[in-house]
Amino acid sequence: TRKDLLGRVWVTGFVFTRCAGACPVMMSKMYGLHKAFPQVTYVAFSVDPAHDTPEVLSAYVKNNSLPAEWLFATGTYDQMQSLAKDGFKLSMGPGSRPEEPIIHSDRLIVIDRYGRQRGSFTTADMDGMARLEETLKRVLAEPSIPVTKLPTVNAFLNGFAGFWLIVGLIFIKAKKPGAHKACMLAALASSAAFLVSYLTAHHFLGSTPYRGQGALRTVYFTILISHTILAALVVPLALVTVYRAFRADFARHRAIATWTFPIWLYVSVTGVVIYFMLY
Ligand code: HEM
Repeated sequence: TRKDLLGRVWVTGFVFTRCAGACPVMMSKMYGLHKAFPQVTYVAFSVDPAHDTPEVLSAYVKNNSLPAEWLFATGTYDQMQSLAKDGFKLSMGPGSRPEEPIIHSDRLIVIDRYGRQRGSFTTADMDGMARLEETLKRVLAEPSIPVTKLPTVNAFLNGFAGFWLIVGLIFIKAKKPGAHKACMLAALASSAAFLVSYLTAHHFLGSTPYRGQGALRTVYFTILISHTILAALVVPLALVTVYRAFRADFARHRAIATWTFPIWLYVSVTGVVIYFMLY
């Protein structure tokens, strides 16, 4: 899946083993790329899944002396069509001649380490391939942030925030305002770091759909929606709470903190719960 290829730069195209037209050209162009850029992962999707069983595909790799590490992927015809059209914005449809049962695009696509498509290039002319190589060089030179680890980092930051909130409350109950202040500022720092890390993860990874069914699904969405609304509310609440504390306006600090504390704790804890329900 797309997730398995995160962290790797890959080049992909849609082909099929019975194809006599564009596919051999695409395969030879891919082979040329493989020689020039061995660090790239090459993935071919079959547009003829009824014929291209895993056995047929591995025989095809052998007969054409293709590199064994290339990935060949197949699915149902509908899955392939939706992947080509919706996923990669490529044309694909039934052909009219028996020797060309399926019409498909001759383009190769470059995908970066974060699963983003960086361009589709025709294999029919030299110009397309030159532009592809240029794009590939640029994408390979980009820094590799381990974004796939970010959701775990986020869960930890939420957990830290919750932890410091509780310890901070214990300190103020024990009449230790200095320690209370330190803990609450640590909670604030954890939540601020979470916000940055969350936005970075969202930018690169998009949102992760929840796959559970039944009652658990209802539970998940109830938690997610309440978490999101209250998370937005926590930002002004926390800022006003800290502001009042710094102005030594402790009576009013205490008044708003009675709201800030439980809402913030709920947001932090449900952040961790959401992580465990998703991953
Ligand atoms: C945004 C983070 C903070 C939260 C959520 C928070 C929360 C609270 C809560 C819930 C109380 C009432 C405790 C009780 O039931 O007795 C309280 C009291 C207090 N907080 Fe904070 N606090 C925060 C930041 C701070 C900071 C930064 C300071 C110091 C500059 C501070 C100083 C105090 C003091 C002195 C009290 C005692 C007020 C009184 O009882 O008159 N707090 N805080």
